[in-house]
Amino acid sequence: MSPAKKINVKPADGKLGILLPGMGAVASTFIAGVLSSRKGLTRPFGSLTQMGTIRIGARSEERFPLINEYVPLAQLKDIEFGGWDIFPDNMFEVCTKAEVLETKHIEAIKEELSSIKPMPAVFSPKYIKNITGPNQKTGTLWEKAQALRADIQNFKKTKNCARLVTVWCGSTEAYCKPSNVHATIEAFEAGLKADSEEIAPSQIYAYASIMEGVPFCNGAPNLTLDIPAFLQLAKEKGVAISGRDFKTGQTLMKTILAPGLKSRMLGVAGWYSTNILGNRDGAVLDDPANFKTKEESKLGVLDTIFQPKVYPELYANLYHKVTINYYPPRGDAKEGWDNIDIFGWMGYPMQIKVNFLCRDSILAAPLVLDLALFSDLSQRAGFSGIQEWLSFYYKAPSVNEGNVVEHDIFIQSMKLKNTLRTMMGDAPVTHTDDAVEA
Ligand SMILES: NC(=O)c1ccc[n+]([C@@H]2O[C@H](COP(=O)([O-])OP(=O)(O)OC[C@H]3O[C@@H](n4cnc5c(N)ncnc54)[C@H](O)[C@@H]3O)[C@@H](O)[C@H]2O)c1
Repeated sequence: MSPAKKINVKPADGKLGILLPGMGAVASTFIAGVLSSRKGLTRPFGSLTQMGTIRIGARSEERFPLINEYVPLAQLKDIEFGGWDIFPDNMFEVCTKAEVLETKHIEAIKEELSSIKPMPAVFSPKYIKNITGPNQKTGTLWEKAQALRADIQNFKKTKNCARLVTVWCGSTEAYCKPSNVHATIEAFEAGLKADSEEIAPSQIYAYASIMEGVPFCNGAPNLTLDIPAFLQLAKEKGVAISGRDFKTGQTLMKTILAPGLKSRMLGVAGWYSTNILGNRDGAVLDDPANFKTKEESKLGVLDTIFQPKVYPELYANLYHKVTINYYPPRGDAKEGWDNIDIFGWMGYPMQIKVNFLCRDSILAAPLVLDLALFSDLSQRAGFSGIQEWLSFYYKAPSVNEGNVVEHDIFIQSMKLKNTLRTMMGDAPVTHTDDAVEA
């Protein structure tokens, strides 16, 4: 294929501030990992921007540069951290309480972690019932939105950042659907002024961020960005946005396994998934309204990968069930079980059992980093609105109206890398004959 025209990507000069609404297990593990990497104490495994390479040209050319040498990304040394939480604990205290990381890893970066403290949060018990905390802003929703905008401006100034990115790492909010208040930005602003109950806290952070020209990524399954008002605002302000729900754990495994089964035309009769999880995220998800948000996000993946309308004999009768059980003794060390009933030649049934003893925050932390760095890249490349090329990172990727969601991790990975190649004026890799590509 012929090369694309190179896009003028602005350089990653100066510091990048990463703002995290919700500074719990994922956010603190992410920060600790970056600080520890910066000191050369640990390696940023799991992060495509730090470890990944990209093939350029024909395979025979053997050009596999590191992604962060191929595209201009912010470097780890240039990152500043900030954020908001309803609990005032600094990041050393959060890391200690979350029990994700070993003491030796936290102690080695104690000073830096202790200096990062959450700003007062915008919170509503209507959207999260199972937790509450003292570090909250007061006033009307409009006043809270303005206060968040002021926080963003102050952070940028005091930390001397050239650019910012926001990544929602807050708890999962109760399930809600778009309503009139979400239809346009004018309706949304009127809703803020009227203290509308239809506006979730995460949406106030998203509003403040987009208004400040700061890209926003949604790591939870909340509705947050997926409303017409924000699609309009992001385009108007030239801001890159993406969501939703970090693709980790069981869903990561699902989107790795399902494309393989389908590629071999093996049928699937049922996919039963269950989890035990004992961290604060698990406690929040123990409320049925919050679990419903997660369930919707988790259930969607198989349908789009298996295309039951295209392959009715193989997948039309697939029974898909997902449960999460709150089980405190496990903390962040989630355990997921999948029983997959498949069938093959002449209809003979077989079973696959997957028992994933994972660590939730260890899987999510590198995604926070990659999303922040790639969203900053998008912004400097002049991309705005929903960044579908970042679907790779999400359980329920947001797409532009009329587009079909892609869940297959291999297609998502190809789309991501081809976007980078196109950005830099190189030909996309289509995996057809290398001689033809060359
Ligand atoms: N860890 C994973 O593998 C994974 C995968 C996908 C999605 N997620 C999502 O990421 C989010 C964070 O997960 P976690 O394990 O860090 O949870 P956590 O409970 O440890 O941290 C979430 C933090 O958000 C805070 N919070 C809640 N509402 C807030 C608000 N309005 N403003 C500011 N702070 C607020 C809570 O006080 C808490 O400290 C959750 O929504 C979770 O569902 C996690």
